[in-house]
Amino acid sequence: MMTDDEKLWYRDATFYEVPVRSFYDSNGDGIGDFRGLTMKLDYIKSIGMDCIWLLPFYKSPLRDDGYDISDYYSILPEYGTTEDFEKFVEEAHSRGIKVIADLVLNHTSDQHQWFKEARSSRDSKWRDWYVWSDTPDKFNGARIIFVDSEISNWTWDHVAGQYFFHRFYSHQPDLNYDNKEVREGMKDVIRFWLDKGLDGFRCDAVPYLFKREGTDCENLPETHAYFKEIRAMIEKEYPGCILLAEANQWPNNAKEYFGNQDEFHMNFNFPLMPRIFISLSKEDSFPIENIINETLPIPEKCDWGVFLRNHDELTLEMVTDEERDLMFREYAKVPKMRLNLGIRRRLAPLVDNDRSILELLHALIMSVPGSPIFYYGDEINMGDNIYLGDRNGVRTPMQWSFDRNAGFSHADSEQLYSPVITNPNYHYESNNVESMSRLSTSFLNWFRRMIIVRKQNSRVLGRGTIRFIGSDQKQILAFIREYGKEKMLCVYNLSRSPSYVELHLPEFNGWHLREAISSVRFPDIGELPYFFTLPRHSYFWLIMEAPDENS
Ligand code: NOJ
Repeated sequence: MMTDDEKLWYRDATFYEVPVRSFYDSNGDGIGDFRGLTMKLDYIKSIGMDCIWLLPFYKSPLRDDGYDISDYYSILPEYGTTEDFEKFVEEAHSRGIKVIADLVLNHTSDQHQWFKEARSSRDSKWRDWYVWSDTPDKFNGARIIFVDSEISNWTWDHVAGQYFFHRFYSHQPDLNYDNKEVREGMKDVIRFWLDKGLDGFRCDAVPYLFKREGTDCENLPETHAYFKEIRAMIEKEYPGCILLAEANQWPNNAKEYFGNQDEFHMNFNFPLMPRIFISLSKEDSFPIENIINETLPIPEKCDWGVFLRNHDELTLEMVTDEERDLMFREYAKVPKMRLNLGIRRRLAPLVDNDRSILELLHALIMSVPGSPIFYYGDEINMGDNIYLGDRNGVRTPMQWSFDRNAGFSHADSEQLYSPVITNPNYHYESNNVESMSRLSTSFLNWFRRMIIVRKQNSRVLGRGTIRFIGSDQKQILAFIREYGKEKMLCVYNLSRSPSYVELHLPEFNGWHLREAISSVRFPDIGELPYFFTLPRHSYFWLIMEAPDENS
């Protein structure tokens, strides 16, 4: 049995997002699998990750990389067997690593037996499991999400003789959550996988489950009520397991998914992510500071998942038109870099592989409120391939070594599910785990050290409050994290030029400062403002000690 405090594990944890397909191929068929992933658990442990988030691994025609599920109860054969999955979870647990997995509730693949039955006849018991209409104009307040590929949320189905509703691709019919059997059916899916040892779910596309005429069909009270039912079930039957929401919304709507600590444990901080890049480009701390203030407070036992990139395009749905233009201008200069309302690039190429910026961004994401969620490969500054379709350019094989196929697979390279990255600036011959592990100055080893420092300060950085320290230097972002007696001062220079700043810290007169990574003692805080000089794109993490401690 977990104690109440142990149940809050997600508040201090580091998360690692992994597609099984992309990590390691154990049987040489060119596709990553569970056995391969299991073989690489020691690596995941070595970079200090506490929880793995698995992308969908269920049976699927793979027209949306597994987010189009055709059977919730079985594993895609290419990825292995149920036993392989169970063994993987067991091995992860034995290393103290938790595992959560994607749960796709909103829609299925059109290849799912439920949909096949539903479309076959109006009298089928499954008909009502999906959302049908004789005309394509119901729910026209619902926005289209994949604007580059879909022109409507309705698609005519010749077999059914009706239109069906889909929020995403037209091969992903939405389930009808007004149907009790659908609601209960999905609870069974949840139980099935939690019984196999999962520690929770990343719940896909949560805002869209229920649809109501005259609304935008997002964030409806019925949707919240259903997730509260799921949460209650988890509390009762699987205490200690978590629900992480993918609710890409404006701050007020996003916060609602925490409920009164009775809905989601976590939610991705989608509002923060693009504003980090905006702040960087404008050399202005305001967008970050403002959005963090807007996304707080949240209930004590809840937490944001903070991230820089993931497997999708860098979404710009929840920014103003002006901000989106700025993002495209700065970070997607070539049209192929754009997709829908976003940018389909990996982190390192987004910032032109600038080591200082990459360190700054990672330090930032490890020190703002929330648990950091890293995307596989970003710790080795993996590049992308914008010439692959859809979002495949950011889903290429993990780069393990300078061997054939980046050490990912023994298959012929033509057989790989995706080519490896060979662009000279990001070539797998240099950007790989083995080479970068050997080099003490590599980004990978820097990342490992920073994760250790984050863990040493996991309470204050994981659970502490945040207070911004203003100054007359807009390119400087400064804040104090505070948890009980623990305090950390974090200062970032978002500018491409060196900067100075005077921070007014009158209430800390006499306090000591110790640099968190090296433990080097800095001058004490005095009566005068504290003066910092910072090289371009640099930061300080400083542990604050009261005058009577270790003086
Ligand atoms: C969100 C997922 O992150 C994305 O990859 C997927 O295409 C859509 N949901 C539809 O399931």
